[in-house]
Amino acid sequence: MKRKLLVATGGGDCPGLNAVIRGIVRRASLEPDWEVYGSIEAYNGVMSDPFDIVRLDNRSVSGIHVRGGTIIGTTNKGNPMEYPVLQPDGTYKSEDRTDFLIERMREFGADALISIGGDGSQRISKALYDKGFNVIGVPKTIDNDLSATDFTFGFQTAVQIATEALDKLVTTAASHNRVMIMEVMGRDAGWIALHTALAGGAEICLIPEIPYNPAVVLDQISRRYSRKRGFVNIVIAEGATPLSGEVTGQVSQELGYQHVHLGGVGYRLQQELKACGCDADIRVTVLGHTQRGGTPTAFDRVLATAFGVYSFELVLARQFGRMVSFRNNTIVDVTLEEATAHYNHVDLDCYQMRTARGVGISFGE
Ligand code: F6P
Repeated sequence: MKRKLLVATGGGDCPGLNAVIRGIVRRASLEPDWEVYGSIEAYNGVMSDPFDIVRLDNRSVSGIHVRGGTIIGTTNKGNPMEYPVLQPDGTYKSEDRTDFLIERMREFGADALISIGGDGSQRISKALYDKGFNVIGVPKTIDNDLSATDFTFGFQTAVQIATEALDKLVTTAASHNRVMIMEVMGRDAGWIALHTALAGGAEICLIPEIPYNPAVVLDQISRRYSRKRGFVNIVIAEGATPLSGEVTGQVSQELGYQHVHLGGVGYRLQQELKACGCDADIRVTVLGHTQRGGTPTAFDRVLATAFGVYSFELVLARQFGRMVSFRNNTIVDVTLEEATAHYNHVDLDCYQMRTARGVGISFGE
């Protein structure tokens, strides 16, 4: 009898997920004893009755490395550790359904699971492994906020998309003498903003790791306008906060969604600058989910494919409870414990920060 490997993609989608799936399937096809299956919409597919699971073979993954998204779907509302269960009185209560999930995976006959996801998903991977299931984690997120890997796939694609948008904003800012504020994703880490500001030559970059002072930002703007004409491009991370303030966003009304919907800090900054007396025209662009869409860059395709192949090789070697990682220009693996131990904030002394300061980018501090 063949061994069954289950693959799930969890959390927000990310360019490169399909390339990981293809890497796993193609590598597994070299081993006659293995079959690969995908659980539809993270773990919902394996927890539903009947199973919503698809067979993944070389034919079904042909050419998918080029496509964004994930062919097996995903969700960020189905955390099995805090699963919303409808109660008789019509309310919902969170329940830990990891035992049930393991039972269902065993019923399906899965010998092992490769879980492709961000920090939340890898916490679930760890819980499943601690309960005795054979799990390998693959890190994914455009935010690059997992500290156990130098880069996650999807990050470079997001930076490329944001940089191209910034390039476009620069020409219109210059023509109109305007201040352009571009808000990018990244949750509580400023990596996308920092890389985009560097690549696109922004004057000001505001990140969650350095609370900004609107008066200082205005001072920087005024200096640029001290000659007759001027323009300023500001990249602001969605998780940035003013010195005396919280993040800008909304508590989610979506059932099972566990994050605050971040967004709107660009508009907040516009108001703060106006309140401080900024007389230049200010326009705001919020890039939103465009940063997660479309074709992954070549770098992300290579990284994602390498993660896919390596993760299957960990399954073959029975090295469970580990997450693949990219460190010092090679693929390695770390324990799931290490994978989830620390959040990857921008280190204020990293080379990107020193470079940004070296080319005169202001952080509004
Ligand atoms: O974690 C990836 C990410 O795109 C964040 O940058 C962003 O805050 C969040 O997901 C958006 O999530 P959703 O797709 O649920 O709106």
